[in-house]
Amino acid sequence: MSKLIVVTGITGVQGGSVARTYLNTPGWKVRGVTRNKSSERAKFWASNGVEMVEANLDDISSLKSAFQGANIIFGVTDFWTIFKDPESMTKKKPSQDITEYCFEVELQQGKNLADSAASIPALERYIFSSMANAIKSSYGKYRQLYHMDSKAFAADYAKSLPGLNGKFSQIQAPIYFNLTLLTDLMKNTDGTYRIKGIGSGDAPIPFGHVAKDFGPCVRAVANAEPGINLFAVGEELSWNRYLDTWCGSQGVLKGGYDEQSLDWWMEKLPGLGREFGENVLFSTEFGYAGNDPSVIRPSQLGVKMTTFREYCAETDFSRIL
Ligand SMILES: *[C@@H]1O[C@H](CO)[C@@H](O)[C@H](O)[C@H]1NC(C)=O
Ligand SMILES: *[C@@H]1O[C@H](CO)[C@@H](O)[C@H](O)[C@H]1NC(C)=O
Repeated sequence: MSKLIVVTGITGVQGGSVARTYLNTPGWKVRGVTRNKSSERAKFWASNGVEMVEANLDDISSLKSAFQGANIIFGVTDFWTIFKDPESMTKKKPSQDITEYCFEVELQQGKNLADSAASIPALERYIFSSMANAIKSSYGKYRQLYHMDSKAFAADYAKSLPGLNGKFSQIQAPIYFNLTLLTDLMKNTDGTYRIKGIGSGDAPIPFGHVAKDFGPCVRAVANAEPGINLFAVGEELSWNRYLDTWCGSQGVLKGGYDEQSLDWWMEKLPGLGREFGENVLFSTEFGYAGNDPSVIRPSQLGVKMTTFREYCAETDFSRIL
């Protein structure tokens, strides 16, 4: 009889990668959890052999029924979805910063996932997409990296649940290779390409081809003993090397790196600029995955990750060329 993995966030990048991996793993069936079965992306998965069910991360009873019969559950929460939801502005306390509100909602969703997973007695593994505890790892320097701490606190909560004892592992996604490509990599009037970022142009920052490599990483975590904390990094690149590799792959002229201040990012991306900018600064100062000594890398589980050069070779950049 085949086993069942239940994938939350299946219409997103991480969940989609996990679903694709297990659809191609003999002996496994995939159930996808979505808020809306009628959406185009939900229908795409249904037509590709995924059993789609509706549930809401804010509603524990809907999660519990979605998780029935699961051997593995992949749990993921998304700060940006909460941030973009117009209702968040009206639901938050008037004096509250929107990012702090998103932290509260995302942490509660992470707890709901953990509690629901803990209610499935036959569950073998609950794998949660977490991030480093920024407050703790930075010794209190970065106190407003809400999109990180919400996931770190939810992981701590899952670890504390007796029902998940011996069943819990976590995985941390790096910065997506394509994150910068839409907004900050631009052609100049002289025909060269320049990139805007934050921090030193030479400090390594962890990137990865999350859409492709995250699923195989989750499968490797599922096959390993519990208690794993995998940092699913593809390649560490400084802004300068990022630009170098990209320009080389596209056969275009390299301009250079333009360091922008945190204030610049906060103005450019209202509400999110600090989360993004401080995430990079935190990463270069304290390590993206924080100071937890138990964190391992994909090679330690035998997973081969896509390099940026390989990613560039297989990606269509015509819209920014
Ligand atoms: C679900 O998706 C369909 C198709 O995009 C849309 O028409 C419908 O309004 C959505 N329902 C909800 C509750 O968002
Ligand atoms: C990055 O790639 C993923 C997966 O292909 C896609 O869903 C996402 O929209 C992309 N993001 C940007 C900023 O292009």
